[in-house]
Amino acid sequence: MEQLETTGSNNPVIDAIVSRSSTKKFSDEIVTRSDLETMLAAAVRAPDHGMLAPWRFIVLQGESRAVLGSAMRSALQLRMPDADAEALERESSKAWRSPVLIVIVAEPKVHPKVPEVEQLVAVGAAIQNLWLAAHSMGYGAAWKTGSHAYDASVKTALGLRASDQIIGFVHIGRPTSKAPVRPGEFATKTTWL
Ligand SMILES: Cc1cc2nc3c(=O)[nH]c(=O)nc-3n(C[C@H](O)[C@H](O)[C@H](O)COP(=O)(O)O)c2cc1C
Repeated sequence: MEQLETTGSNNPVIDAIVSRSSTKKFSDEIVTRSDLETMLAAAVRAPDHGMLAPWRFIVLQGESRAVLGSAMRSALQLRMPDADAEALERESSKAWRSPVLIVIVAEPKVHPKVPEVEQLVAVGAAIQNLWLAAHSMGYGAAWKTGSHAYDASVKTALGLRASDQIIGFVHIGRPTSKAPVRPGEFATKTTWL
């Protein structure tokens, strides 16, 4: 298993958080079902006001990645009828960039005390949990959205309802190339009272 870069903090959680970065390229190595289940178990430990579990996960791997690939191709064709074959191929190939792609969806519920925004951020927190779990296990991830996340035809192809919201297409696999760790700057974003 890939070793995490350390920060010298002697704290594995802090090390995982600060050494995380987006994976640019993935190897073809499969991600085991057991490892995926560990990541999903971490995801659902996200803070969740009202315990509404507003998330849903659609795991695409192997040939099932074609479901999203062809949905993205058709969505582009609908949005841009003049798109050429190369553009359509580029669009559908996005689904094949990693051995596993998890579509992470918010299913917001009407609740007297938990507004929709709180349910959406809970799903964002679930994605971060999943990503950190993957990273700590030597996998890489990339969180994408783009116009397909908001496209009704893509939702339909994935069996989602109009009220469902795609919060991320999360690629997972063994990294062969990662983005440099971005410097985080909190001092100018923080007011100490
Ligand atoms: C809600 C959300 C949607 C995102 N969508 C995209 C996307 O469509 N394409 C992209 O390149 N990065 C997207 N990102 C950003 C990357 O996932 C990434 O976190 C960012 O580029 C910073 O790089 P790092 O993860 O290496 O620190 C998105 C991030 C969030 C939180």
